[in-house]
Amino acid sequence: MASDKRIEDLQILLTKRAQAKLGGGEKRIKAQHDKGKLLARERIYLLLDPGTFEEMDEFVTHRSHDFGLEKQIILGDGVVTGSGRIDGRLVFVFSQDFTVFGGSLSEAHAEKICKVMDMAEKLGAPVIGLNDSGGARIQEGVVSLGGYADIFLRNTLMSGVIPQISAIMGPCAGGAVYSPAITDFIFMIKKKSHMFVTGPSVVKTVTHEEVTFEDLGGAVTHSTKSGVTHFACDDEKQCLQYIRKLVTYIPQNWKEKTPVKHNMDDPERAEEELNTIIPADNTRPYDMKKIIRLVVDMEEIQVGEYEIEIEKDAKKKAKKNGKDGDKGKDNGKEPTMESSFFETQELFAPNIITGFARLDGISVGVIANQPSKMAGVLDIDASVKGARFVRFCDAFNIPLVVFEDVPGFMPGTFQEWRGIIKQGAKLLYAFAEATVPKLTVITRKAYGGAYDVMNSKHIRADYNVAWPGAEIAVMGPNGAAEIIFKKEIDSAKDPKKALADKVEEFKKKFANPYAAAARGYIDDVIEPSETRAKLIRALWMLQTKEQSNPKKRHGNIPL
Ligand code: HXC
Repeated sequence: MASDKRIEDLQILLTKRAQAKLGGGEKRIKAQHDKGKLLARERIYLLLDPGTFEEMDEFVTHRSHDFGLEKQIILGDGVVTGSGRIDGRLVFVFSQDFTVFGGSLSEAHAEKICKVMDMAEKLGAPVIGLNDSGGARIQEGVVSLGGYADIFLRNTLMSGVIPQISAIMGPCAGGAVYSPAITDFIFMIKKKSHMFVTGPSVVKTVTHEEVTFEDLGGAVTHSTKSGVTHFACDDEKQCLQYIRKLVTYIPQNWKEKTPVKHNMDDPERAEEELNTIIPADNTRPYDMKKIIRLVVDMEEIQVGEYEIEIEKDAKKKAKKNGKDGDKGKDNGKEPTMESSFFETQELFAPNIITGFARLDGISVGVIANQPSKMAGVLDIDASVKGARFVRFCDAFNIPLVVFEDVPGFMPGTFQEWRGIIKQGAKLLYAFAEATVPKLTVITRKAYGGAYDVMNSKHIRADYNVAWPGAEIAVMGPNGAAEIIFKKEIDSAKDPKKALADKVEEFKKKFANPYAAAARGYIDDVIEPSETRAKLIRALWMLQTKEQSNPKKRHGNIPL
């Protein structure tokens, strides 16, 4: 009986597809799983809404004939690419397959990545890269380096056009690190992913330092010491769920407005606790994150895998605190609520807080000084962390909400010799050039140059308010009195008393918000409990804000 060509054709397709899904083969798949790592497609399925992944270029192969590569043709060539949805919104994704030549980047592999990036740009959607690669495909030589450069160029040109997110799921070394470095957010996984320009053996040869992979370029190192990564996740699943969460706060591209994700939290909710949250003694620390969480939206946690993870966390925390952390969960009907505050770079420069949140559903970028860490002083790391976050928000139309309690910039040779002048200027530049809606709440101190820098009215902030105990001044009362009344204090019969009197005099005049309010440098002095309602009203008022900077090729931020 004659065979049916149509059935044969179909069978060829199905066989090829099955072959492509096998990547580098059963042995290497097992090796990947044995390392506690997921496969490229498994990661994509966890990242995207179920059933939404559309793969492309599954049949692409390399074109190399050197070092026996012509005998090792693997469909897909070590990277899975395509599009899908997160929370119903379009994203593009590439996921390197370590089972195929260690996920190394060949000419064809690079072309596949460039193709999804080009699609993402054309359609104005975020691009998410899941990196797990031994770097340049050594057998292909310079062709592979060219492929990297093609990606770097796109990373750069698309910066500020579409959001770019990188997850490092395995090794990422050599020049390959520069693609994630240009993207907006980097996720790493503890003990599973590593990023470095040169590995431990090269380090030993060149600098004679002995260092482990983890210490040199692990997730903890890059989230605490270098600030290269924004998130250090416990495992791959958590990493992919955090990416899903991040995406809900950011627009699809630079033309889109900040997302509004409605929730049930009352926009007029007053928080009496805020009225007494600042210690009576103005030298005492407090946790600014508590203030942020009381002000921003509480919302239902996401449905799906993410919910499962968070529920576990909430239960663990509740158990630890000896109270029921997940309200209403007992009957299994009411939703579990959590704060919408989603912190970025939590472990790096903790004296400044950055993260996303929602206010009446409107996505905002929060930047806050943290008085419980180094008194919230601005040092080099805090300035750079804050500046990059502000610029991301401004690039993507995300309003900025600042909670300010800052004693100034960090003094000392360590900071000066490493350029606190130039680095601090980055934060100033970022706030000054930003044209998105800009809101500031001064909770306590706003001293010196840091007052100007932290989203002051003078650099075009739109809505600036202070709490009644705020001190807006050139410096703290003690330092000020010691300088301007030095002669009087020194010549007084009782210098100690004279100093105390002068400190009191200075406090009365400047250690309050009313000198600034009298000049319109702040728009209002508000009751702390009404902060949420005031910010939300201001945000809605500012929805139609339009502002632009002078025409130029580009500015010259102090790098
Ligand atoms: C081709 C590679 C490869 C590469 C790994 N493989 N890296 N093939 N080019 N760059 C292959 C291995 O031969 C092996 O093939 C398989 O991938 C898995 O590798 P293993 O070594 O068995 O895995 P593991 O022990 O987990 O070690 C992973 C690794 C190691 C740490 C990444 O493979 C490694 O050090 N690779 C070389 C890294 C490197 O020097 N890359 C070039 C960097 S320079 P089989 O057939 O056995 O499964 C660079 C420049 C970029 O990237 C510049 C951009 C501007």
